[in-house]
Amino acid sequence: MIFYVLTIFPEFFYPFLEKGIVAKGIERKKLEIRIKNLRDFTKDKRRTVDDYSFGGGGMVLKPEPVFLAMDEVNKEFKNKKRVVLLTPQGEIFTQRKAEEFAREKALVLICGRYEGVDERIRETLITDEISIGDYVLAGGELPSLVVIETISRIIPGVLGKERSYEEDSFTQPFLDWPHYTRPREFRGKQVPEILLSGNHQEIKKWRLKEALKRTLQRRPDLLKEELLDKETGKILREVKRERRLG
Ligand code: ADE
Repeated sequence: MIFYVLTIFPEFFYPFLEKGIVAKGIERKKLEIRIKNLRDFTKDKRRTVDDYSFGGGGMVLKPEPVFLAMDEVNKEFKNKKRVVLLTPQGEIFTQRKAEEFAREKALVLICGRYEGVDERIRETLITDEISIGDYVLAGGELPSLVVIETISRIIPGVLGKERSYEEDSFTQPFLDWPHYTRPREFRGKQVPEILLSGNHQEIKKWRLKEALKRTLQRRPDLLKEELLDKETGKILREVKRERRLG
């Protein structure tokens, strides 16, 4: 998968591409990140990318640099692609959305800045508008990184065999279970006996139950019984019963 990023801060991205999961994906040739500096697509000496909002207000990203950068992207990658504007006005980004994007061959991420972007960019170039949450950042660069990392982990072969994407929180419709590592006792706190038992069947059930308890407590909105398989549904009912009694 190729990620194109259109930004006025390309330097934000480089450290991120050199470490961690995205670097692994690039090294394993599963992904490619192509960063376009919007200032390279300006024609004036001062490399202006923003201008005053007509009618009054703050600064707005000008259309020309974005359109010219998109022309170059379209020359490099001719097939159909999703073009995503990162904006607090967008649809909230979720794991399901990331899975949908992960099926694309290329994704263009346009990092908005200032008070907004010229509406003609929206009308003409954009296929999707995405927000990473109900808060306002200074621009779309951090949200782009969030989107890139989330999608990268889904692309087969990026995580490698040592980690399974399927077991993550949010891949399943509930939160993760508690994890423990050595030592068995730490400051008087013990690792639950069951995890040391070697009984894989029982461990699996315990984990599922703890995950459901945690989800019920913290994010009941995630738990839709119709999305759970038979065994999980049964354990959920058990957890609910215990909660009522407890
Ligand atoms: N730009 C500024 N805030 C944002 C947010 N929450 N999500 C996506 N893009 C943004």
